Amino acid sequence: MLLHFEDEAVFAEQLARAAGLEAMQVARHRFPDGELKLRLPVPLPPSAVVLRSLHHPNEKLVELVLLADTARALGARHLTLVAPYLAYMRQDAAFHPGETVSQQIIGRLLAERFDAVVTVDPHLHRVAKLADAVPARRAIALSAAPLIGAFYAARNTQPLLLGPDAESEQWVKRAAGGSLGHAVCTKHREGDNDVRIELPAIPLAGRHVVLLDDVASTGGTLVECARQAVSAGAARVDAAVTHALLDAAALARLAAAGVAEFVSTDTVPHPSNRIAVAGLIAAALK
Ligand code: R5P
Repeated sequence: MLLHFEDEAVFAEQLARAAGLEAMQVARHRFPDGELKLRLPVPLPPSAVVLRSLHHPNEKLVELVLLADTARALGARHLTLVAPYLAYMRQDAAFHPGETVSQQIIGRLLAERFDAVVTVDPHLHRVAKLADAVPARRAIALSAAPLIGAFYAARNTQPLLLGPDAESEQWVKRAAGGSLGHAVCTKHREGDNDVRIELPAIPLAGRHVVLLDDVASTGGTLVECARQAVSAGAARVDAAVTHALLDAAALARLAAAGVAEFVSTDTVPHPSNRIAVAGLIAAALK
């Protein structure tokens, strides 16, 4: 059984079909003071998969605690969380005294409730593997990079895939898959909205450049990269991310900076979604 919430019904149906599961909706009631009550379908089978993509994560984390603990009380012995976007992975260290290391705290909260966690392109920078952040019995990090690479390879423009920072090298390399050119910039972040980018020392003039990153949030990183690529003479600049967290104003800033087309996978519902990941996740579940 695949348990899901109403706002993810479309993705849940695609995933259930691809994985051969029965999709069942969890009913959710919000009390006037904001508290939540859930109602799970009964009887529950001993093994269930829970779908919850964790953009706007705070309330969803409460849902997952309520859901998992209720499922256990109803007899579920094996619970898998499918979180196409896994939040709180970027704060993986205390950069100043007193700061939370959110990755470890949220990772433990999930691992204490789910036997397996499956996600796509989690932001793992200072930790080597997902299990170091989410110590569940199975912690599976899939990558949408090959799907993104295939999307551009099919266009026959021989684009140069350009990552904004050293951390993006893993995605860029996988997306290039040995057949597309790739490189990464150097990024200096001074604050949430203050990013400086240095281009790699390779010619961009006349090239089709595709900026590639795991996540776009304010869009500031891609905006700076796009400005620099345009100034360096790129013939066309596109951008692609696995997780599109950005709002309409950020999309407009991307376009103003010279991004001709911005695409994303459907791990987070967004107008830019062009690349489906249900098949990738279903294969892992199987
Ligand atoms: C950070 O290291 C990530 O890979 C992204 O580059 C970053 O989170 C993008 O954020 P923003 O869109 O706010 O610049």
